[in-house]
Amino acid sequence: MDSEKLREVREYEIQIGSRIPPEERPAFHLSSRVGWMNDPNGFSFYKGQYHLFYQYFPYNTVWGPCHWGHAVSDDLIHWEYLPAALAPDQDYDKDGCFSGSAVELDDGRQMLIYTGVLKKEMEDGSTRDIQQQCLAFGDGVNYEKYGKNPIMTVDDLPDGCSPYDFRDPKIWIDEDGTYRVVACCATVGRDAKIVMFRSSDGINWSKGKLLIQNFDRFGKVWECPDFFRLDEKWVLLTSPMDMLPEGFEYHNGNGTLCLIGEYNDEDGIFTPQHDQAIDYGIDFYATQTILAPDGRRIMIAWMQNWDTTPGYRLDPTTWFGQMTIPRELSVKNGRLYQRPVRELEQIRRNKVSYENVYVNGEMELDGIRGRCVDMEIELRSADENQPYEMFVMKFAAGGRYYTMLSYHPGDGIMKIDRKFSGSRRAIIHQRRAEIPSKDGAVKIRMILDRYSAEAFINDGAQTITANLYTDMGAQRITFSAKGAVSMNIVKYDLVP
Ligand code: FRU
Repeated sequence: MDSEKLREVREYEIQIGSRIPPEERPAFHLSSRVGWMNDPNGFSFYKGQYHLFYQYFPYNTVWGPCHWGHAVSDDLIHWEYLPAALAPDQDYDKDGCFSGSAVELDDGRQMLIYTGVLKKEMEDGSTRDIQQQCLAFGDGVNYEKYGKNPIMTVDDLPDGCSPYDFRDPKIWIDEDGTYRVVACCATVGRDAKIVMFRSSDGINWSKGKLLIQNFDRFGKVWECPDFFRLDEKWVLLTSPMDMLPEGFEYHNGNGTLCLIGEYNDEDGIFTPQHDQAIDYGIDFYATQTILAPDGRRIMIAWMQNWDTTPGYRLDPTTWFGQMTIPRELSVKNGRLYQRPVRELEQIRRNKVSYENVYVNGEMELDGIRGRCVDMEIELRSADENQPYEMFVMKFAAGGRYYTMLSYHPGDGIMKIDRKFSGSRRAIIHQRRAEIPSKDGAVKIRMILDRYSAEAFINDGAQTITANLYTDMGAQRITFSAKGAVSMNIVKYDLVP
């Protein structure tokens, strides 16, 4: 049943959202229809289309009580907005419909599972969020909240869990036909735990069982968990809060974590054998995956990070927040690999390629420019006996602006730096990643959209993602090196 709140938001997004000119949005990354966007939610395939919902506060460009925005796509590249799906309009979710996921039921309905939040006043006068899991059923456009919500409360958690961090349920139907949910919770001291629930009908759930506990290794609460089988391994993706840095692998603040290992469904225990960051750039958080009908495991994430959002002064009626390009995942040599979904190749136009370009001073190449671009670059030392010292690519360059990706083979450091991108805030502008190479041989696939850069290094063994809100007049791309680099490059315009 449509509530007043949902009707209002649906009207507001048509009235105000449609005033935003399409050319002032990313060309092929999903951005908020109007106002604020964070985590991807309910990434699913339903009635022949991909559905993507998102954490949404339409009335301002800062976070506020969460709704679920909604968009659909035939190819993961072209998105069409649908009316907002959920509003915080019930007693049990009046302070927010937090992150969750979606599944198709046997009877053909789509079911959303999300975290309902309500604020509770404590004895000492402070307020705490009560977080409980809730359901809504729909036809792909309209959703009705379940009459018996919430369906999971803190009483369903195993012993030793705090009542205040229990959120972000990720649902799937397992190979044995049972419904499964993983959700994040934590000890009272906020040490992360991931808990798994089982159900035969998706509506009545068992008590949760501990899948894994952090024991203080990777930050505090592990938000937005996702757990799946991939290439003979089990993979847990999650976004830990309050990380401490570790070499160039993890950095301070909100981070991302991929654990790869073995899972025993009998005892329900996940045993990781490898850990890594999911992305090594600046703006990447809250991943969610889908198992596509053709068997691909595809991941999408919020192309932003809580630590980089504060401080933008934006008109409240514009958009803020975008998703990454959806990425196909695989596990190779025990690591997570990512590549942009192959559908992106369908919008490649105007191929320009060069081989064995000798780069030492700063140079530009005919036909290599633009802000919506797919480029594959292969670097190696031009002189076998003398590895180059540094390679620099500047993009979104022009006037006072550029963003750069640099590589030092000596210490294996790749750095993204958007200090000169036009940012007027003292947020994080640089990040370094360790990319080992033999004599400087490295491959970079760079996807530029109007307001972002995503670099896939060495066939996707590592990725570096950042957004940049540079004036669209800055279209140049330049290359330079200290020492001599030999570069192959293939570049396409991306024209959705
Ligand atoms: C992650 C997160 C989730 C929560 C949502 C609220 O970015 O904090 O844990 O459900 O955002 O918007």
